[in-house]
Amino acid sequence: MQFKISTPSVKKTTILIVAHDKQLSNSGILSPKELSFASCEMKDGKNIIGINQYLRHIYIVVPPTDSNKIPISEAIRRIGCSLKDLLNKHNEVSVLISNLSSESFAAYYLAEGIALSAYQFLKYFADAKKKANTLTTIEFDKKSITIKDLNQLSIITEAVGIARNLVNEPMNALNAVQLSEQIIAMGKASGFKTTILNKTQISKEKMGGILAVNRGSIDPPTFSIMEHKPTKSLNKLPIVLVGKGIVYDTGGLSLKPTLNSMDRMKSDMSGAALVSAAMYAIAKMKLPLHVIALVPATDNRPGENAYVPGDVIKMYDGTTVEVLNTDAEGRIILADALHWAKRYKPELVLDFATLTGAAAAITGAEALVYMGTAADATKQAFEKYGYLQYERMVQLPLWSEYGDMIQSDIADLKNVGGAYGGAITAGKFLEHFTSYPWLHFDIAGVSYTTTKKNYHSVGGTAFGLRMLLDYLLHYGK
Ligand code: BES
Ligand code: MN
Ligand code: ZN
Repeated sequence: MQFKISTPSVKKTTILIVAHDKQLSNSGILSPKELSFASCEMKDGKNIIGINQYLRHIYIVVPPTDSNKIPISEAIRRIGCSLKDLLNKHNEVSVLISNLSSESFAAYYLAEGIALSAYQFLKYFADAKKKANTLTTIEFDKKSITIKDLNQLSIITEAVGIARNLVNEPMNALNAVQLSEQIIAMGKASGFKTTILNKTQISKEKMGGILAVNRGSIDPPTFSIMEHKPTKSLNKLPIVLVGKGIVYDTGGLSLKPTLNSMDRMKSDMSGAALVSAAMYAIAKMKLPLHVIALVPATDNRPGENAYVPGDVIKMYDGTTVEVLNTDAEGRIILADALHWAKRYKPELVLDFATLTGAAAAITGAEALVYMGTAADATKQAFEKYGYLQYERMVQLPLWSEYGDMIQSDIADLKNVGGAYGGAITAGKFLEHFTSYPWLHFDIAGVSYTTTKKNYHSVGGTAFGLRMLLDYLLHYGK
């Protein structure tokens, strides 16, 4: 979606955001008859009122006043979803938003909802052109948004599209090497620096976790390092993002049962997609923060040389791990990345991973689960931005008893806990490899949807990306 500030005209299809009909009559845009029609509809509680004028459509948007169940930002985004459908139905190519209400960010949220729901993944359709939305541009009058916010909106919604594209790309088009190539391209386009370790370098480093998971694969693993380092930054020591990059998860020799459980496993690199798209946005917005992102990547599949249940592997940090289930592979590759992160003496490390079905079982698609050792103030800030972006989260405890559940009889750790508490025992496993303030975000339940829901179309959602960027935009403030 393109965004720009331009001047209103009587020929442009226009969205008027108003809280009450007085704001409409003051605008002078509607005829007396249209005005009385709009007032009636508003009294009926309509949130979108369409008026067909000779040269254009007018859409009057009335944000709900009683949206105490969801933040007003989210209520307006959702109106944006419905508007997007109307605009495309009427073959509109562009629309101008004019905010007459006193909610200063109403135009921003509305455009965000339109843009997020206008996302399409059409590259594999023969009739992609026919399926494509007509709407390509959202304009604002100059009172309705600042240039800075317009720029931010444009970059964040673009980043969401980039993350969703990566998730939606099937494994036969996006193996670990191809993922690293995408990351290089994103670095070039936005300005962050990239370094990619190939299999030889990963072996030289003795990253035993990544190598173990990769053993069943015919494709080599990659370890991608991204860095955004502005000359002036608010943080002295870097913030490190880590994303799980399992480009496909069959479960390995502990094969997933076939009935549907593998259908969405191309999305097991959603964490990688999220952190690399975040880096794209961070670099494009030129955030005054030193941020590094790490993506360990491979597929997880059975193969002649695949790691087997019972294997004891030596991780990058020297810890030995008894592998009792090759399907608990995410924590194994993440552990090596978390160990790598220690070299930066980071201020904060945030990992994003489709780590456990157990996390999805707790919150479904409504929230992610998180846990970690970062300060309470950090956790509170994440919960706040998670709520405002409507990418909500629930914290789980990292009590030591859960650590007891991953003690092995023959090695330092085993890679699975018991039948219960699986999201937490996975978190405890990761914690072992950290030595800095850290948060782990398990996005297994939210990263992908099989039904359209509000501004999430079927496929990758990029859930978590907007709240992360919101957190970073307010970092140190
Ligand atoms: N990638 C899966 C987790 C997952 C499940 C993501 C469903 C998205 C939707 C992960 O690698 C996995 O297989 N986890 C196992 C761990 C278990 C073997 C301890 C799980 O959750 O069943
Ligand atoms: Mn798995
Ligand atoms: Zn997995």
